[in-house]
Amino acid sequence: MQKPTSFTASNETNAKRKGSSKMAELIALHRVAESRKPEGERICYDPYAVYFVDPETLAFAASNPEKTKEMSEYYERLFPGLGNSIRARVRYFDDFVKNSIDEGIRQLVILGAGYDTRAHRIEGLKEKVRVFEVDHPDTHNVKIKKVKEIFGSLPDHVTYVPVDFETDNFGERLIAQGYDRSLKTLFLLEGLVMYIPPEAVDETLSFIVRNSGKGSFILFDYYPESVVDGSCELEVGKNIHNYLVQTGEPLKFGIKEGMVETFLIERGFSRIQNVTAEEYKKMYFHGINKDRKVSSILFFAHAVIE
Ligand SMILES: C[S@@+](CC[C@H](N)C(=O)[O-])C[C@H]1O[C@@H](n2cnc3c(N)ncnc32)[C@H](O)[C@@H]1O
Repeated sequence: MQKPTSFTASNETNAKRKGSSKMAELIALHRVAESRKPEGERICYDPYAVYFVDPETLAFAASNPEKTKEMSEYYERLFPGLGNSIRARVRYFDDFVKNSIDEGIRQLVILGAGYDTRAHRIEGLKEKVRVFEVDHPDTHNVKIKKVKEIFGSLPDHVTYVPVDFETDNFGERLIAQGYDRSLKTLFLLEGLVMYIPPEAVDETLSFIVRNSGKGSFILFDYYPESVVDGSCELEVGKNIHNYLVQTGEPLKFGIKEGMVETFLIERGFSRIQNVTAEEYKKMYFHGINKDRKVSSILFFAHAVIE
């Protein structure tokens, strides 16, 4: 039977999230899949992502290649291009971290870090930069356990900060863990702002603007507001909205299309750059990858704190 190509909201499955983030694991699975491609073909590379995916999922994929192909085609029909946009996001954020090290950042704060492994795989971080990984305690605990399993102990250059952005004061927690407000810092929010309420986004941005050294950077990605409120005309927008309600990690925050610059200026940021799907497609998808679709609903944005 042909599976549906749209995803309708259902009352039964509007469950509240419990336990570690399933979305963080799904993003790690994208990194695994991309990393398995040959060096000249892959868009991003993360040799550690594999440790953060349920071994049963990987074993199923290895012994059922046809079924796995069918499933990924099914998800591609529901969310055309979104997986490739997520993989391009990993690459864009990696490149931005590398450039920021060259620009002399002394701290990297990864908010909603999930199973981010940059602290372990980006050259120069360990030697030059203190890394703070901030996430919900439920996901954080799983991450810490896995990092100990992989590396034998927790790395000295990383500080883990358990925070629920909806209920905790993120800034107080960060400072209590040794964050230095005077240093040039890069704040990464990858796959985060869409999952926290607008008030929490505002509080977080306000802390960043008021408590970071001159020349600090912020990099995040976002969906247009229409995807978050369910009014998006595109099928992919409707489907992602309904799918996330059903997984218990619903979308909570978006930015009106064309308004990111105004949004960030109003909150005290400068030198704002918006990166569209068309732009990152042009940057990374060449040769063998040129026909891979990306999704116009996922944007990246960065800015400076002066
Ligand atoms: C889509 S995942 C992205 C993870 C990681 N940044 C990546 O790109 O692989 C979203 C992350 O945000 C975290 N998150 C969502 N809501 C949160 C909250 N209220 N407080 C703290 N973390 C939250 C989740 O635990 C999860 O790790």
